[in-house]
Amino acid sequence: MQIVKTIPALQATLKIWRQAGDSIAFVPTMGNLHNGHLQLVQAAKTRANRVVVSIFVNPTQFGAGEDFASYPRTETEDQQKLQEIATDLLFLPPVTEIYHPHAQTVVVVNGVSERYCGASRPGHFTGVATVVCKLLNMVQPDIAVFGEKDFQQLAVIRAMVRDLNMPVAIRSVATVREASGLAMSSRNNYLTTAEKATAVVLYQALCAAREALLQGGAAVAEIEAEALHRLRQAGFLPDYFSVCRSADLQPASHDDSELVILAAAKLGKTRLIDNVSLVRL
Ligand code: PAJ
Repeated sequence: MQIVKTIPALQATLKIWRQAGDSIAFVPTMGNLHNGHLQLVQAAKTRANRVVVSIFVNPTQFGAGEDFASYPRTETEDQQKLQEIATDLLFLPPVTEIYHPHAQTVVVVNGVSERYCGASRPGHFTGVATVVCKLLNMVQPDIAVFGEKDFQQLAVIRAMVRDLNMPVAIRSVATVREASGLAMSSRNNYLTTAEKATAVVLYQALCAAREALLQGGAAVAEIEAEALHRLRQAGFLPDYFSVCRSADLQPASHDDSELVILAAAKLGKTRLIDNVSLVRL
């Protein structure tokens, strides 16, 4: 596995691969890699000859008072994991390589960015869209792979690629979970043992809401209220628990059939997000 820290070094290797006719898949990450990230890399490998992974803890997507400084940085372990699954290239840029000191341009995705995590974390999706746009411009991959764990992020990136005519195919991979059902996340490392046992209630509440929607009968607002109550009872401080239509993440109405339930909640100092999808007939 080649490891590069600068854009010229990245692009020199990419040029050689392209001249040899190789297709390129890209997996952007913030590191502290777990099996969820590795599944994205495996999916990327089946879809292209060469796989590029980036690890960059992007300062612009963290708000004031969020965990940018304490976000887990585990470079050695990450490199080993990527090496083991035969990643071709790891791009590990410092912040100065990504952001010009006088940068004046950002990517704002309206609509789909505004609710849910966009409302709880103002500016977050502008930071995400801007860095993903920049990384896609640097790598110029044929495909880029993202996780459904961050469902709204995926929708924001799809909208950006569509609206800016970016020549890349976006692919997604289903959420990878612990045996308990807890969605894998770098932030799970912040949880105490007791909190980790409680954390699974988020997924359980999502599954219960999905069952209730599939059964019919209860109104969406009732189902959301019941889930919020259950989360509070378990010790969470919920941000939102919302039934949305998958296409544009607007609140679901009773004739929408393809739905996703998005949830975010704080447990102690850890903010967890998760979602489940369903199709109503
Ligand atoms: P990060 O949280 O490191 O996630 C990198 C990618 O892994 C994202 O596409 C995310 O959805 C996916 N992922 C994380 N946990 C997963 C799980 N349990 N199952 C499946 N996929 C999972 O998301 C980011 O970084 C950043 O916002 C980034 C896109 C890199 C921009 O900075």
